[in-house]
Amino acid sequence: MDTKAQKISGWIKNRKSTFVSGLKEGGKINDDLIEHLLENASWAPTHGLVQPWFFRVYTGDAVKHFFSKQKEIYKLITPPTKFKEHKYKGYDEKWKRVSHIVAVIAKRDPYKRFPKQEDIVSVACGVQNIYLSLDAYGIAGYLSTGDVCYSPQMRKYLQLERDDEVLGFFILGIPDHALVSTPRVRIPVSEKTQWVR
Ligand SMILES: Cc1cc2nc3c(=O)[nH]c(=O)nc-3n(C[C@H](O)[C@H](O)[C@H](O)COP(=O)(O)O)c2cc1C
Repeated sequence: MDTKAQKISGWIKNRKSTFVSGLKEGGKINDDLIEHLLENASWAPTHGLVQPWFFRVYTGDAVKHFFSKQKEIYKLITPPTKFKEHKYKGYDEKWKRVSHIVAVIAKRDPYKRFPKQEDIVSVACGVQNIYLSLDAYGIAGYLSTGDVCYSPQMRKYLQLERDDEVLGFFILGIPDHALVSTPRVRIPVSEKTQWVR
């Protein structure tokens, strides 16, 4: 039997991103399950228990609408030299494989008790909790960001207040197990560690 230490390492190392192409067409997740996922997110550490996360969840027809908004903003903000027709057209297809989209927002603490960076770090810990929960619930997804995500147009669509930040969109669906996932690798942490004794 695995020790506690082996179990936690296993969970961490098996956590993975599954992109839209790896989700099953028409796959739907129960809203209850999404609520469990977000509750897990809310157990992230926060300085002073500020708990700055806010989740805007898109489901049903709202998923289709969300992607059409992304498409519209992409066209609006992308310079011609960077514009990719296949990416633009691809927005029309995504909703077929996506069950829910969670816009992950760091709501600035109204009392500004700690630097904004700490609000963002706390919410990022919540994102990791979501990631770690996926496999156990039989669902899959990934955090999506980029220029459209951070654009003023998207801020308006998300109804963000001035000091709020969007960390990304957690795209969720049912994994298509027929697809073989590529091996995942990491740079040895020893190359990114300096010990001071
Ligand atoms: C802050 C952040 C932003 C990300 N943004 C994107 C993104 O815009 N598009 C994308 O395909 N993946 C995005 N990802 C997912 C990464 O592609 C993924 O984590 C990376 O490839 C490592 O794979 P793994 O999560 O399976 O270990 C993002 C992940 C994080 C943490």
